[in-house]
Amino acid sequence: MGLSYQVWCLMVLSYMMSLKGAEAQFPHACTKPEALQTRVCCPLWNGSPCGFNSGRGVCAPHPAKDLPKPVDYRVNWPRAFYDSVCTCWGNYDGFDCSQCLPGWRGPMCMQRHHVERKEITDLTDSERDTFLSNLHQAKQTTSSRYTILTSNDTTVDGNYVFHNTSVYDLYVWMHYYSAKSYAGSEKNAAHRGPAFIFWHRVFLLFIEREIRELTGNQGFYIPYWDWTRTKDCNICTNKYFGGVGKDGRIDSASPFSKWKESLDIICIQSASGHLIRNPGKDPLYKTLPTAGDVEDTMAMPLFDTPPFDKTSKNSFRNKLEGFEIPVDSRRLNNSMHNLVHRYLNGTMSLVPTAANDPIFMGGSSFSDNTYI
Ligand SMILES: *[C@@H]1O[C@H](CO)[C@@H](O)[C@H](O)[C@H]1NC(C)=O
Ligand SMILES: *[C@@H]1O[C@H](CO)[C@@H](O)[C@H](O)[C@H]1NC(C)=O
Ligand SMILES: *[C@@H]1O[C@H](CO)[C@@H](O)[C@H](O)[C@H]1NC(C)=O
Ligand SMILES: *[C@@H]1O[C@H](CO)[C@@H](O)[C@H](O)[C@H]1NC(C)=O
Repeated sequence: MGLSYQVWCLMVLSYMMSLKGAEAQFPHACTKPEALQTRVCCPLWNGSPCGFNSGRGVCAPHPAKDLPKPVDYRVNWPRAFYDSVCTCWGNYDGFDCSQCLPGWRGPMCMQRHHVERKEITDLTDSERDTFLSNLHQAKQTTSSRYTILTSNDTTVDGNYVFHNTSVYDLYVWMHYYSAKSYAGSEKNAAHRGPAFIFWHRVFLLFIEREIRELTGNQGFYIPYWDWTRTKDCNICTNKYFGGVGKDGRIDSASPFSKWKESLDIICIQSASGHLIRNPGKDPLYKTLPTAGDVEDTMAMPLFDTPPFDKTSKNSFRNKLEGFEIPVDSRRLNNSMHNLVHRYLNGTMSLVPTAANDPIFMGGSSFSDNTYI
């Protein structure tokens, strides 16, 4: 993937470093009244906060800083809630320093964990069965590690409402949460700007690690989907994410037909609550992007250009995201990433609901199989 791939790796790495110890959902231990009152989120690991006695990390104060008003609690996370969180040393990571940074494994997190992502249709039958059954387990099992905050305004004292959620729905929530507007602002850290690629990459690394914790399958990884190999949705079949059934429902013979959209807790689920997918049905977005579109995107010499939003021109990021249409494209109204969402016409087409559809995993990992 040449230059831009190396630039990606560097930027993903530095972004991950800056995220150490701070993640956009709440460890169970930190939702207890005393943790919220004392503003300390330093859960015990092996008997001491942040695994301090085991040399894993330290409960460290964050430098105090006034948060801009109205408070968007995603900004300077998690300062709106806690003054002290774990800072993990070495390759340790996680809210209590119990985990390894992505790319590392072993009891001391000193062994490289190299994962070579396969294209999803290249998985063997048993690899595919394991991948899909791990996904089902994640959808069905409540996360014992995290809970989510669903109250919208925590500037009001005591206005905390936490909900238990399945491991998969934690991931749905995080995507929704990153994109949601707050107090009338349409700011969105995950889309329509330079962070688009990196935000989603870190997001996938996070959920991969949670699914490994849950299933004990350390080999779990999210395969990618190369949509340039196909004209239609070749993974919209019961062998993969489910065939197209009646009225855009998933074919009833697929276990994914039983999956419900998880956002009922915040009242934005679609009428049925079921996953909807109608690949190619919308005439404005009736085909998947092509290899030519990918080449055009990869040929951009600049990663991103001012004003760094959806109007950016000659921007690799904006072409990849799909607001800047490749010159030779077939005059569809969106391309690349956006087009894949729109093409699927249903749950995947709307930002707040998109991650409910398990096909989102393949779609958001692009065509890059070399990253850790
Ligand atoms: C939420 O999950 C935690 C951890 O599994 C559990 O201790 C707690 O009882 C659950 N709360 C509710 C309301 O189910
Ligand atoms: C929170 O939700 C309530 C009820 O829907 C609404 O009146 C209020 O404006 C919201 N607050 C924020 C900060 O979005
Ligand atoms: C699906 O396609 C139809 C046109 O066939 C369009 O009206 C509708 O808005 C699309 N739905 C979504 C969720 O994109
Ligand atoms: C799609 O793009 C064409 C050409 O750029 C434009 O005329 C049309 O209004 C667009 N349609 C929608 C629904 O955005």
